[in-house]
Amino acid sequence: MKRILITGAAGFIGSNLTDRLLAEGAEVTGVDNFNDFYDPAIKERNLADALAHRNFHLVKGDLNDASLLERLFTERKHPFDVVIHLAARGGVRPSILAPEVYCRDNISATVSLLEATRKSPTRRFIFASSSSVYGNRPETLFSEDLDVTRPISPYAATKSACEQFCYTWHRIYGLSVTALRFFTVYGRRQRPDLAIAKFCRKIQSGEPIPVYGDGRTVRDYTYIDDILNGLTAALDYGASPFEIVNLGGGEPVSLARMISEIETALGKKAVIDRRPPQMGDVERTAADVRKAERLFGYRPETSFTDGIRAYVRWLKEDR
Ligand SMILES: NC(=O)c1ccc[n+]([C@@H]2O[C@H](COP(=O)([O-])OP(=O)(O)OC[C@H]3O[C@@H](n4cnc5c(N)ncnc54)[C@H](O)[C@@H]3O)[C@@H](O)[C@H]2O)c1
Repeated sequence: MKRILITGAAGFIGSNLTDRLLAEGAEVTGVDNFNDFYDPAIKERNLADALAHRNFHLVKGDLNDASLLERLFTERKHPFDVVIHLAARGGVRPSILAPEVYCRDNISATVSLLEATRKSPTRRFIFASSSSVYGNRPETLFSEDLDVTRPISPYAATKSACEQFCYTWHRIYGLSVTALRFFTVYGRRQRPDLAIAKFCRKIQSGEPIPVYGDGRTVRDYTYIDDILNGLTAALDYGASPFEIVNLGGGEPVSLARMISEIETALGKKAVIDRRPPQMGDVERTAADVRKAERLFGYRPETSFTDGIRAYVRWLKEDR
């Protein structure tokens, strides 16, 4: 049985991954500080199924707490086979308002976790990075070998820094690290601050939706099940000890089309509140996913239209 530590287990991606790995027969330890970046009650609900599972153990606490990390790794009969580090503060715009908090929860927490991991027998580390590290770029597709030293938000800067710390810990201590750059993830349990979740909520209740710019910004949206497929494939990847790999949907979608797909799925028109473009937001993202396919057979399977329909179905059932 695989023994896995998932940080940020109560969050959107973490709770979905926890459920998937438990269903596949793994033993999962989840750690999360249930911070109030969004309502912690949502995070409690995300873990409701997992908490009923006998192979799930929840540790409530902060990765910046050194004694908690030490207990997590040493007070065990068997070491973790792999650490999947998803805990972080997400959100580009809030990171401009509180950059220190992002340095603490993203950079310091990651360094503390790398330290605790390297002191333990665990040698495999998977890190959740982000497409935001690419910044604004002229290239048609964003591939992993592009220069990412020009982040345009504090959030992106923290993710880029964490990738570098992961590399350093790989070089010095021989950790086997895969950093996965997620491209805007959506689907069941999506974070309430993200555009698709926010727009669905507001359109359903008849409130205007804030639309920044002229609707021509483009995002490569990735359905949650594709991200889970990529994460589980990366778990078994061991051919190379350090890799950075994009996980995207492979279908860039304009903001205008995103709104119209939601309108169709909900059967309701949006009221648009047009606003100027936001600082820190990139104009477009477009994932080159050929490396993920080559290394571990990743292929996004859910089209944007199908993913939005599935998400809206889940929203209606969840209510
Ligand atoms: N959702 C996306 O579209 C997206 C895109 C690119 C990258 N990512 C990355 O994927 C990861 C998961 O994102 P998500 O959307 O599920 O976010 P989320 O906010 O739903 O989950 C993150 C979890 O980490 C926990 N956490 C934060 N700081 C912590 C700390 N110091 N100690 C312990 N727990 C802590 C939070 O309470 C939260 O439950 C993050 O690293 C994020 O940056 C997400």
